[in-house]
Amino acid sequence: MKKIRKAIFPVAGLGTRFLPATKSQPKVMLPIVDKPIIHYVVEEALGAGIETIIFVTGRSHQAIENYFDISVELEDFLREKKKEGMLREINDISNLITPCYIRQRVARGLGHAVLMAKDLIGDEPFAVFLADDVIDAEVPCMKQMIDVYERYQCSVIAVMEVDPKDTRAYGIIEPRDLQKGFYQILDMVEKPDPKDAPSNLAVIGRYILTPEIFDLLESTEPGKGGEIQLTDAIKALLKRQAVYGYAFQGKRFDTGDKLGFLEATVEYALKNPEVREGFRKYLLDLYEEYATEAARRPGGDAGPPPKG
Ligand code: UTP
Repeated sequence: MKKIRKAIFPVAGLGTRFLPATKSQPKVMLPIVDKPIIHYVVEEALGAGIETIIFVTGRSHQAIENYFDISVELEDFLREKKKEGMLREINDISNLITPCYIRQRVARGLGHAVLMAKDLIGDEPFAVFLADDVIDAEVPCMKQMIDVYERYQCSVIAVMEVDPKDTRAYGIIEPRDLQKGFYQILDMVEKPDPKDAPSNLAVIGRYILTPEIFDLLESTEPGKGGEIQLTDAIKALLKRQAVYGYAFQGKRFDTGDKLGFLEATVEYALKNPEVREGFRKYLLDLYEEYATEAARRPGGDAGPPPKG
């Protein structure tokens, strides 16, 4: 059996939902508490045993290369100031991965970005991480997916249940139930109206794909918005071989979206030993302030603030 050794991180999108912050920097470099978004996702890849990471980058994405590189000046400074802990922290992750970078010169879609890594992947199954999806899980989401892959040796796509009224925001699968949380994918529909959605199981940004996907991507015509869609190639793949949907254990944050980014910031701050207590107190005080103000409004009653 071929092991999953390599991952593609397509990070060349324009990040329009987060403009103007993403005008001159990739969205995955925005920090959640004290680490850029991409750091959390690379940690997940490492937790799944993947060390070779192929970043497909775009214009003004040098920040990602610099982040996973050595900063001699900064290291000298920290050494001089005897800040050994910080020194370790800034290098830990870069020492553990083998990064490769490919430039997607024009953002022609996610499918096109994945295809750019074809030669670096070769003839083996691989993982794809959409790094704006941050997943908080006890067992890293990709590790859970690799366990499934090792049993069935087929492509595996992470899915999650969404509110049926929200299907317009996702790719939705038509599932055949195999076991609880495990499905064969019969078809996929991009952003369907709730009345046309074949289920409420949405595709999120983690994939394990067999290398046959590359030939299919090569013959995929540009779809919605003139982009080469990964979904179209997967739809062709599932006509040739089984593709499974796996409902992972964990909580996913769409940090490419402003609200999702804020939710991730709050939840990760509440887990961070350095700021947890102070931040919790701040949130409770803020809640009390809002509740008092709401109660003061005519006919207003926001209820009591939470205890604890
Ligand atoms: P999105 O659909 O989230 O697009 O891409 P985006 O440009 O990143 O963000 P918005 O919607 O405009 O705010 C899904 C993933 O595919 C990558 C993105 O970087 C993101 O990780 N992608 C998309 C590419 O690498 N290249 C592309 O041409 C398009």
